Amino acid sequence: MQNQFVFAIILLLTSLADVQPAALNKSAVDIDFFKLYDNPEAHISPQRRRTTADRIAAHGYPSEHHHIVTEDGYIVGVFRIPYSHKLQNQNEYRPIVLIQHGLLSCSDILILCGPDDGLPFLLADAGFDVWLGNGRGNAYSRNHTSRSTLHPYFWKFSWHEIGYYDIAAMIDYALETNGQGQKSIHYVGHSQGTTVFFALMSSRPEYNEKIKTAHMFAPIAIMTNMRNSLARSAGPYLGHQNIYSLLFSNQELIPHNSIIMNIFFNLCEPDQQLRVVCENVLEKLYDADRVNMTAMPDGMATHPAGFSSNQILHYLQEQQSGHFRLYDYGTKKNLEVYKSEQPPEYPVENISSEVHLWYADNDLMAAVEDVLALADRLPNTELHHMEDPMWDHGDFALNKEVRKYLNEPVITIMMEFEESNKEL
Ligand SMILES: *[C@@H]1O[C@H](CO)[C@@H](O)[C@H](O)[C@H]1NC(C)=O
Ligand SMILES: *[C@@H]1O[C@H](CO)[C@@H](O)[C@H](O)[C@H]1NC(C)=O
Ligand SMILES: *[C@@H]1O[C@H](CO)[C@@H](O)[C@H](O)[C@H]1NC(C)=O
Ligand SMILES: *[C@@H]1O[C@H](CO)[C@@H](O)[C@H](O)[C@H]1NC(C)=O
Repeated sequence: MQNQFVFAIILLLTSLADVQPAALNKSAVDIDFFKLYDNPEAHISPQRRRTTADRIAAHGYPSEHHHIVTEDGYIVGVFRIPYSHKLQNQNEYRPIVLIQHGLLSCSDILILCGPDDGLPFLLADAGFDVWLGNGRGNAYSRNHTSRSTLHPYFWKFSWHEIGYYDIAAMIDYALETNGQGQKSIHYVGHSQGTTVFFALMSSRPEYNEKIKTAHMFAPIAIMTNMRNSLARSAGPYLGHQNIYSLLFSNQELIPHNSIIMNIFFNLCEPDQQLRVVCENVLEKLYDADRVNMTAMPDGMATHPAGFSSNQILHYLQEQQSGHFRLYDYGTKKNLEVYKSEQPPEYPVENISSEVHLWYADNDLMAAVEDVLALADRLPNTELHHMEDPMWDHGDFALNKEVRKYLNEPVITIMMEFEESNKEL
């Protein structure tokens, strides 16, 4: 959704204004701020807000919270619905599926529509072992074996590292923890969740063997025709190595900015008096005829979930260069890191796994021409064009009819794969 991006930039500017992490006496600021709301509950910190596991458990499903250590020492928080309480299938064969969120987002996004419509629940009820990933740096993955999140080095990553390290670690961990001798998984990514898949599968082609079917919702790799106007206007400044992008790099965006998070909290939690304001704002931002408005206040309470500024810079570089390639550090450092002045292109031709591209005409981020150009280069792909001409980037998560037009067809493809490739 275009709004998401506008939102990102606004919040990003707000977060840049809030730059005194160590020196600031945060508790003092928080207390003054809460006085504005005169709200005794407000001392609940965003850090202790309900997790994805709590939200899943609230619907009666079994839920688990795992901490997975990556090869480069980041610790990512991953949630799991190991089986369905309705099926009581904990002792049966349950194919693994890993779901990865988009930029600004987190593992809460696809559970917002609840058990009747949300993909993770539908998958659990169809007999799958469901894993919900979180990329490094978001609210569930601010953790490292040795590095502090206060240090800029922690934030030196883009979506490349989320794919190359985090997704790889999640796949291996899920295969091992599932304990049923499975050798491969199904994958679902939304938006940046698709980019990280393409980055991993082209950079470490051996991981393609660990994929049964992969479903890319709003696939983003080549970005030449992206129509998002804000990104188009920021691109010429931030999509190249220059003083703007230098100043902007290696930062935590929309972080534990407690002021922002608590505004959302105060506005949007269901038992808050100000909930009506939250709902009004949302109605102006989103098309109530298309999007599940009931799910939106929880969406606001869990989003934006935090990320590194380099993720945005890397996207703007793609949009400017027209290439899907590794992070551009500028000529000098590129020579050091890549042994070439320009960053190398991701060899997407080497993504041998079965990739389903789900795309839509009205998606301002994943333009149809760009999806088709990518599809031309992928050796094993199937296109799924969304029929609804108004279907947009956010509809893949929150459309009222997401079950019928997206989730059920995706589950059918996975079940058919399982039928014809029985592992056990
Ligand atoms: C920070 O704020 C708290 C609460 O107002 C106060 O007790 C404390 O002395 C302050 N610390 C500093 C270093 O200013
Ligand atoms: C960080 O990781 C450790 C080790 O897995 C875990 O025990 C801890 O709860 C994590 N902390 C956060 C804030 O996620
Ligand atoms: C909308 O979201 C609410 C809250 O999660 C859920 O109860 C409801 O089933 C959803 N409806 C649709 C049509 O997605
Ligand atoms: C793609 O895979 C082939 C065969 O393994 C390999 O020779 C080639 O270098 C790969 N392409 C790139 C660009 O990595």
